Amino acid sequence: MTTVSRETLTALRALPKAELHLHLEGMLQPQRVLALAQKYSVPTDWDEVRSRYTLRGFSQFLELYKWATSFLREAADYAALAEDAAVTLHEQGVVYAEITLSVGVMLLRKQNVSGNFFALRNVFRRHAEAGTGPQVQFIFDAVRQFGAEPALEVARLAASLHNEGVIAFGLGGDELSLPLQEFRKAYRLAAEHGLHLVAHAGETGGPEQVQDAIDILRAERIGHGIAAIRSSAVMNTLANRRIPLEVCPTSNLLTNALDIQLNATHAKLERHPLRKLFRHGIPITISTDDPAMFHTSLLEENAAALRMGLSIADLVAINRNAFQYAFLSDAERKTFLGQFPAA
Ligand code: ADE
Ligand code: ZN
Repeated sequence: MTTVSRETLTALRALPKAELHLHLEGMLQPQRVLALAQKYSVPTDWDEVRSRYTLRGFSQFLELYKWATSFLREAADYAALAEDAAVTLHEQGVVYAEITLSVGVMLLRKQNVSGNFFALRNVFRRHAEAGTGPQVQFIFDAVRQFGAEPALEVARLAASLHNEGVIAFGLGGDELSLPLQEFRKAYRLAAEHGLHLVAHAGETGGPEQVQDAIDILRAERIGHGIAAIRSSAVMNTLANRRIPLEVCPTSNLLTNALDIQLNATHAKLERHPLRKLFRHGIPITISTDDPAMFHTSLLEENAAALRMGLSIADLVAINRNAFQYAFLSDAERKTFLGQFPAA
């Protein structure tokens, strides 16, 4: 837990906040999983849910992700999840979110992707219009270990829903499974349809993953990317080309990505490379990734950054960055940035 003064927390809470790296499925709260399991008569109990949600390590995390999402079976389930998510984000002072959907998982389960999408999008829309939730746009994510063909199908679906609020195509899952070259075609198709491009890279993989995501996929933002700390050349690329890293500190701690990148065991969050990456001049944004699974919130992640030695002024800059590098129109960006305290 964070030891940050009440005044500081109040200052953090008052900042307008944006989530750029947030998986809707990662907002599945244990209570919602239990309710869905009951709906589908899947035998489980609170002890099992709690024990699965107590995780350490990347493969255990992927296992939890697979299990929890197995209860999302129809559009109404996604709508219920969106309802939980909109309320939680609003409570955190999040005014804008680019929410990632694991469309690769929906396809694997042979679901009606556009049916799911419209159901959940309408919930977010209703909350945004009522002032009870953030403004939201969507990123369609393929799953790396599922391969190139399914990724191409995700890109096609993203393109077909571009005018409905889908703004980007991305790739998540296991970085160590398949090389990024395999996804060149999917990224090219997405770009040809005017979608923005993001990719998870340098989370559990090495700095070359980050370089490949930039060179091969033309990714505009990198999910995690903390492996860059191991290569000054990659850090320079990110800083010089103004390519932001979407940093998710608690996620990195609990998936052991932090230990992997630091070549350590049980490294503390205070040793997270966020501060060094920021001081190197790389555009940094802070996000939660899968907040229900990592038991965190955007406020907590901001407070964690203070414990890494960043100042409130640094955090104002980092929270501004989220809007600066969001896939917004110039007019929308200006409106959000206008809500920040004068520098
Ligand atoms: N999908 C959801 N969260 C993820 C993460 N941290 N890394 C890769 N894929 C993910
Ligand atoms: Zn992620």
